[in-house]
Amino acid sequence: MNKMVLVAGGAGYIGSHTTVELINAGYDVVVVDNFSNSDASSLEGIRKITGVEPKFIEADCADKEAMRKVFEAYDFQSVIHFAAYKAVGESVAEPLKYYHNNLVSFVNILELMAEYGRSNVLFSSSATVYGDAEELPVTERTERKPATSPYGNTKQMSEDILRDTVRANSAMHGIALRYFNPIGAHPSALIGELPRGVPNNLVPYITQTAAGVRECLSIFGDDYPTPDDSCLRDYIDIVDLARAHVVAINRMVEGRTKESYEVFNIGTGRPVSVFELVRGFENANNLKLNYRVAERRAGDVTAVWADTTLANEELGWCAERRLEDTLKAAWAWEKAVRGL
Ligand code: UD1
Repeated sequence: MNKMVLVAGGAGYIGSHTTVELINAGYDVVVVDNFSNSDASSLEGIRKITGVEPKFIEADCADKEAMRKVFEAYDFQSVIHFAAYKAVGESVAEPLKYYHNNLVSFVNILELMAEYGRSNVLFSSSATVYGDAEELPVTERTERKPATSPYGNTKQMSEDILRDTVRANSAMHGIALRYFNPIGAHPSALIGELPRGVPNNLVPYITQTAAGVRECLSIFGDDYPTPDDSCLRDYIDIVDLARAHVVAINRMVEGRTKESYEVFNIGTGRPVSVFELVRGFENANNLKLNYRVAERRAGDVTAVWADTTLANEELGWCAERRLEDTLKAAWAWEKAVRGL
């Protein structure tokens, strides 16, 4: 059985945690990253946690000839593709940057996989494909909504590109994992999220506010039709999410897939409001956060959370970490980054 995996974007937030869990599960990992939105320190964190130095090649996945060298050098059978940009607002301002990076890199990898006879592809998708869903929780059969940003569009297009590619190539298998809201950090506080500039996402904004880097958290809207009037999301611990990649890779490596292309929701199945998350962070870490209510953020959906039955039953995976522990880990990581 080939236990080598290429992790494209393995120095990033989800990529680094997944690399740790793959190594812990006995996989031999090759990381490719160009550090466009990550830092080499995460590779050092991976080494400290696992005691293993992952193989590493600095390359841009949109550079096909650079990627060809990776395929020539290593005989991995499986690839996880994390190497994509993810800022919604930036994607609206710079659509071609997103279409180029997110799609060209993925097409390159798929072409090289077909050419070199590599079979298993795991794609990082997002709950963003469900948009403002009419029925909650969303299942994998819930219809996707037209994307409202170029970023979201690249997720939908990449899912379709993967589906069509593996259906046309009987030697290939593809799984798309639709992540809900990944948060937290490794409990060792050696790896975590490293947003550049002002964070877009809620938890990094919270931890930076607690650290005094940001003055005040804005809660985007308290007039939503939800129990406490703030938005509902499904916050999934980053280590639980990383473990989902290991079981999905196992499924393909062990030949247990039921169809050539499969999709799984990866969340907790539990909706949590913005106010609940803020209070949860304060209680878990015994501190008070400076926050105020602000206008709604354009493009936010009221609520989205996962039906995780398929992942539970088919992958044998479920979220295990308690939100309190996740929020403790998020704060421990921020403190480690800031030297607090
Ligand atoms: C966002 C993206 C989503 C993407 C995901 C990737 C938007 C509209 N959606 O998801 O497409 O897949 O990130 O990480 O950008 N909030 C505040 N104050 C803040 C930040 C956030 O109140 O400073 C609220 C938001 O209104 C939302 C919740 O916190 O209700 C979560 O926000 P965020 O972490 O940005 O995730 P999503 O918007 O769900």
